[in-house]
Amino acid sequence: MLDYKKLIASKIKAPLETAELLSMITETADDSFGDYAFPCFRLARVMHMSPAQIAEKLCAETELDEHIVKVQAVNGYLNFFVNRSELIREVISDVFAARGKYGNSDMGCGKTVCIDYSSVNICKSFHIGHLSTTAIGSALYKIYSALGYKVVGINHLGDYGTQFGKMIVAFKLWGDRKTAEREGVGELQRLYVKFHQEEPSHPELTEQAREWFARIEKGDPEALELFELFKRITLDEVKTVYDRLNVKFDSWNGESFFNDKMDAPLQMLRDKGLITESQGAQIVDLTDYGMPPCLLVKSDGSSLYATRDIAAAIWRKREYDFDKCLYVVAYQQNLHFKQFFKVLELAGLDWAKDLVHVAFGMVSLEDGAMSTRKGNVVLLKDVIDKSVAKAKEIISQKNPDLADRDKVAEQVGVGAVLFSALENSRIKDIVFSYDRVLNFDGETSPYLQYTYARCNSILEKAGDYKSSKIPGDYRVLDDPETLRLIKLIGSFPQAVKDAAAKYEPSVISALLIDIAQAFNRFYIEHRVLSDDLTEQNARLQVVEVTASVLKRGLALLGIEAPDKM
Ligand code: ARG
Repeated sequence: MLDYKKLIASKIKAPLETAELLSMITETADDSFGDYAFPCFRLARVMHMSPAQIAEKLCAETELDEHIVKVQAVNGYLNFFVNRSELIREVISDVFAARGKYGNSDMGCGKTVCIDYSSVNICKSFHIGHLSTTAIGSALYKIYSALGYKVVGINHLGDYGTQFGKMIVAFKLWGDRKTAEREGVGELQRLYVKFHQEEPSHPELTEQAREWFARIEKGDPEALELFELFKRITLDEVKTVYDRLNVKFDSWNGESFFNDKMDAPLQMLRDKGLITESQGAQIVDLTDYGMPPCLLVKSDGSSLYATRDIAAAIWRKREYDFDKCLYVVAYQQNLHFKQFFKVLELAGLDWAKDLVHVAFGMVSLEDGAMSTRKGNVVLLKDVIDKSVAKAKEIISQKNPDLADRDKVAEQVGVGAVLFSALENSRIKDIVFSYDRVLNFDGETSPYLQYTYARCNSILEKAGDYKSSKIPGDYRVLDDPETLRLIKLIGSFPQAVKDAAAKYEPSVISALLIDIAQAFNRFYIEHRVLSDDLTEQNARLQVVEVTASVLKRGLALLGIEAPDKM
């Protein structure tokens, strides 16, 4: 779509910088006041006239053309009317020309973005606390790819730490391979809990765990073999969930990958005089920046989470030469990211400014179950299963004859879970409710999918309609509902860019809801199938572009759109 704001800004003869003019032009809420408005109040002081007089003066000076067909001065505002049938023609032809990839751009060509997301922990269950990082990270992956960026999806596995020494002790005492293979992470968790129950009365366990951990670090074959077993069992389980969510990674280099890559970064920080000793530990003092020190080496010589993240950032920069590296991690880790970003900045690495912590809020379930409650975690898999089962129930009631019912239920149930993490500004805490996310009439993904399927069924009923040529003139569509719908569709490409710039998939989800609602209003007010073929064809094109943008938008959020529902 033509950049109308820019065009209008070039027409306003006011003593302001273009950027400022641009920022003042807004879309009108009521199209009887035109399509765009410019308030003149701020100019009063500069131009020494009343806002109403200024509006009159600017109005008289504005030159019209084939895009801006009318301008009015009303109560200190300048109202612009665009050539609406031209705008509709443009949006429809843009969507058709994009062939299902509307909103794509090449703005990111030649640039690389690393996205660290999901980043699960070995031997720990994949619980609902991982939903947001997985959904948001994966959506950002798709959004940046659509904008032409090369994207590297990284699962920075939590696969290092003294807990693995405890796991080995527990496994050797009370576990066996068969049970572990069969029961999966649940069994590993059970062993881990047992270790902590037994430890107080059997203090020798602590020492044994320490020894086994040391053996992992030294690369002892037996220790490594067991560790690899735990890792495989965990990842097998996690990957079945990723497959259902259609989530992919390009790298699984986690914490342990950096075991042998920390010396050089530490030496570099030492050489720059950043590291000081404090009670035997090595730290970077951050008092001047209002933060506690960043602990890098413990007094026993072992490294920390931050040490590995510093090594990882340096390694990623060298390996991928990223323009940006995003970390999609809960806001509880705010301090950690601020600290290690600061350390890299103090080290004089100018790319430290390209590291971004994409923080998000907590997920809890309606019934009060929290993602982190000890021993009572809510598995992401169980949430998906339940959502799919409920979706299936609803679909069976609404459309008992639907073919592919299981597949559609999976798409709807999975979509609802993903959408719950993508519908609001990411920093908000989420209270997950099955009834709410599966409400087909609510602001939900089933509603979007349902609207998409409805568009398809209209197109199907139209018989031999094929998206035919773009007529030169869409005057038949001159009504407020169509105009509103088309304008929203026209704003989709910008929304994709905004979502990327703000790391906020919710910019897209909110627009999709607006589009679906606008479509349903359009459909209530206007007969699509009619005897007037010119009118019918134009309206069918509106239906087709709506379907296209809904499908595309959902895909960018990682959600599939079944053709029939
Ligand atoms: N595994 C960590 C956790 O579950 C998240 C890791 C995030 N990524 C990172 N580079 N620190 O809390």
